[in-house]
Amino acid sequence: QVDESKEVESIVPSYACQRRTTLENHNTVFTDALSLLAENAELSDEDGRGVAFRRAAAVLKALHSPVTDLLQLRGLPCLGGHSLRVIKDVLENGASSEVEFTKQSERFKALKVLTGIFGVGAKTAERWIREGIHSLPQLQDSAHTLNRAQQAGLEHYDDLNQPVTKAEGDTIGEIVAKAVMSVLPGAQMTLIGGFRRGKLTGHDVDFLITHPEEGREVGLMPKVVSWLESKGFLLYQKTTRNSYLESKDGPARPSSNMDRFERCFSIFKLPEDAKQGTKQTETLTEDTPEDTCSLTTPSLVKDEGSESTKRANLKPWRAVRVDLVVSPISQFAFALLGWTGSKLFERELRRWAGHEKAMSLSSHALYDNTQSKYLRASSEEEIFAHLGLEYIPPSERNA
Ligand code: GTP
Ligand code: MN
Ligand code: MN
Repeated sequence: QVDESKEVESIVPSYACQRRTTLENHNTVFTDALSLLAENAELSDEDGRGVAFRRAAAVLKALHSPVTDLLQLRGLPCLGGHSLRVIKDVLENGASSEVEFTKQSERFKALKVLTGIFGVGAKTAERWIREGIHSLPQLQDSAHTLNRAQQAGLEHYDDLNQPVTKAEGDTIGEIVAKAVMSVLPGAQMTLIGGFRRGKLTGHDVDFLITHPEEGREVGLMPKVVSWLESKGFLLYQKTTRNSYLESKDGPARPSSNMDRFERCFSIFKLPEDAKQGTKQTETLTEDTPEDTCSLTTPSLVKDEGSESTKRANLKPWRAVRVDLVVSPISQFAFALLGWTGSKLFERELRRWAGHEKAMSLSSHALYDNTQSKYLRASSEEEIFAHLGLEYIPPSERNA
């Protein structure tokens, strides 16, 4: 068995960006368990633990067959004692007691429900829970004033917690492309995020917009947003101005994870007739957690969807989260790589760059600390080459 583990070791390098991770996962029973613990850690302000669980899950996602014995894990990277205990528990008992306990804990359930509201992060949820707010009705009854994002999030809670299909993503892509072409002919739009990696569903749809002539993209976002707004496609939007060009000299501190592109977080109003392959009633019942299904934000529904029409699912549209990012062409490859994900793949790329290559990678640039200079790239392939990594296509970045 020693030979076997040696072989496994050689095919699973320790950084996720050195591996090919497709959507075909032979170990979902383990990766689901580890991902839940990762989520719980992230929601509890324990990012270090969260990353450890994410890395462990990612290693199992990269395996070509199901794990049936702990011995098969010998020599694999990123599997700490805690993760191994969870895997062992699942192997021996069919489930992890820690995972089951977490799932059923009032705290975790409340964190999930509250952070399920667009605009509510772990910190806010934590604060509300400490005040005894565990559910949406309790939140609505409380005296808390919600910001604009949170109000929109609460209003469209059910829709936004229903997975977005690829077909819906494509329909929104056509609408955004039309907006972009109308306000700046020649501009280019690319699908990024999970759908670019080949996922069939997502929590939102992400697009990157650029123009082949440097500088022509300046001021593009407000125009795109106005076009979409004028056609009634936006239920909510918050545009953040580009702060990258405004920094002193040239590309600023690429080591910072902070993104400085002009970007727009939005909630789209996707007309029902534009939807393809609708299975809405099915997915609704399937994906709505027991504690939250009774949510009908009647007092908050101001649009045509009254409580009864919502229930009967007669609302002629659905709300979908959409992220738009605008990048100058000189940074396009970095933006494309940085916004395609997965989140762990991105994190590992930056860790590889820093720890193994003394370079700083961001969604804007790659800086070589040894040569004290920026390394240019006009494609993702060139960035992988600069980093001394084999090129991994988007469909194999599902770590
Ligand atoms: P689903 O939307 O759930 O399908 O997954 P996703 O992989 O598309 O995730 P998400 O839409 O949250 O993010 C897409 C990619 O953009 C991920 O790789 C993130 O790391 C990246 N991303 C998200 N927010 C930011 C940000 O503020 N700055 C930068 N640089 N990247 C971001
Ligand atoms: Mn996404
Ligand atoms: Mn997104």
